[in-house]
Amino acid sequence: MSRTWWRGAAIYQVYLRSFADGNGDGCGDLAGLRSRLGYLKDLGIDAVWLNPWYPSPMADGGYDVADYRDIEPVFGTLAEAEAFIAEAHEHGIKVIIDVVPNHSSTASAWFQEALADPRARDRFWFRDEPNGWSSIFGGPAWTQVPDGQWYLHLFAPEQPDLNWDNPEVHQEFEDVLRFWFDRGVDGFRVDSAALLFKSEDAYEDLDGVHDVYRRWREIADEYGGVRAGDQDGGQGEEPGGGQGGERVLIGEVWLPDQERFARYLRPDELHTAFNFDFLACPWDPAELRRVIDLTLATHLPIGAPPTWVLSNHDVTRPVTRYGRADTGFQHGGRLHGSPSDLELGRRRARAAALLAMALPGGVYVYQGEELGLPEVEDLPDEARQDPMFARSGGANPGRDGCRVPLPWSGEEPPFGFGGPGPSAPPWLPQPEGWRKLTAQAQLADLDSMLNLYRSALRLRRELLGDGTLTWLPSEAGVLAFRRESGLVCVSNLGPAAVPLPPGELLLASGPVEGGALPPDTTAWLTGAGPGVSGR
Ligand code: NOJ
Repeated sequence: MSRTWWRGAAIYQVYLRSFADGNGDGCGDLAGLRSRLGYLKDLGIDAVWLNPWYPSPMADGGYDVADYRDIEPVFGTLAEAEAFIAEAHEHGIKVIIDVVPNHSSTASAWFQEALADPRARDRFWFRDEPNGWSSIFGGPAWTQVPDGQWYLHLFAPEQPDLNWDNPEVHQEFEDVLRFWFDRGVDGFRVDSAALLFKSEDAYEDLDGVHDVYRRWREIADEYGGVRAGDQDGGQGEEPGGGQGGERVLIGEVWLPDQERFARYLRPDELHTAFNFDFLACPWDPAELRRVIDLTLATHLPIGAPPTWVLSNHDVTRPVTRYGRADTGFQHGGRLHGSPSDLELGRRRARAAALLAMALPGGVYVYQGEELGLPEVEDLPDEARQDPMFARSGGANPGRDGCRVPLPWSGEEPPFGFGGPGPSAPPWLPQPEGWRKLTAQAQLADLDSMLNLYRSALRLRRELLGDGTLTWLPSEAGVLAFRRESGLVCVSNLGPAAVPLPPGELLLASGPVEGGALPPDTTAWLTGAGPGVSGR
């Protein structure tokens, strides 16, 4: 793999709790993940990104980190994590882990110290009076401690915000990055990357954050980057036993202003960031074209590769979303329970996957997306664990519906989630109907979503990656572009079939008969002529 592997990488997101359960306790873990590395290799991804695996009371699915230098016992041990990193590398898979710098956990040693001793409170945001801020999860953003002071938590009360005006916080996270780089990880996904600094009246995108990422970039570059004066172009031995190639920093930056967003991707800051505009975009040709153009215009001038994301552990599964009348996504209006035509949604999700994978830059696949899992909307209230649900008094269903444990095999729950032997029920119940969606069932079906993802990821690796695109003339409702490799991608979002341009058909998200591309279908061709003409 090249040093700059991340520029065009396909990164698979592992939500560890729900990926595979190796010890049969109903919760996914490192043993389960290690047992499925062959599946990930065969899928054709370049890297995995794991949601937080640190010791945590799980008030927010592990985003409440009690200790940044260890592994949550339910997931395994530090030795198992090290073994996993080594095995992933043997499979040719890079490992990216989450780092959560905006907040920690009330169970952390620092917060416990702060509770016990008011003089030890400067690592957090303690105040005598709260301001009027609300928590992003609903309810107030301040909680009072027994001696009367209040602490800030932009998310759940169990997630106290860290004070980035305190140099100890900087030192701590620099050490944490080194701790994991020394153990061979290839990068970090930076949680809530724009929120770290606060003023009295603002907490988003304050300027101090950029100095933090400049420092982090220096550290990442020490491990895997090409350093000035390297005689061998940086091919020499790296500290920390990395697999080779640059170590990366990937930002979770939700900012509507593209100019502000682009600042995080300057050459000496983060390497890439998630493209949430694309993720949230409705299945609409003009809107998609606008978002793709805006993305390219934002990234190309600063030399940062765009990323293309259709889902993650926080948002409604695409199969469900694309089957609704309103196909966009908004955190505030999850449209939970609004009718969805899942067949239509599945067709569109397949077409969207081929579109995303043909675009220049990196692509993310959230576990279960490759199986076409729908959002589970009928979870019983008592099973729901997302704090968004409880903090909104049940008004917001939260994110559990996209976090249901994966179905691997067999005819009934737990669908092989707990491995071959008997196992406890998964931590969230799986729908009976998932028997048709197991990885095992889909591997046996050439037309399955899983086989589409496998074929597309393989072809993408051979033909695509970084660079740019050229739009081809096409009729209304059709998005068509060519990549430098010669690959042409045509997505038909219009109401009627359109003729495909000449060229060899490499892959299509649905049946293509008589040279016509049906609605809600994407095709990849090579050697195609100059344009996609109308009928
Ligand atoms: C973003 C993460 O993706 C989400 O799951 C989490 O709840 C918040 N950050 C807070 O850490």
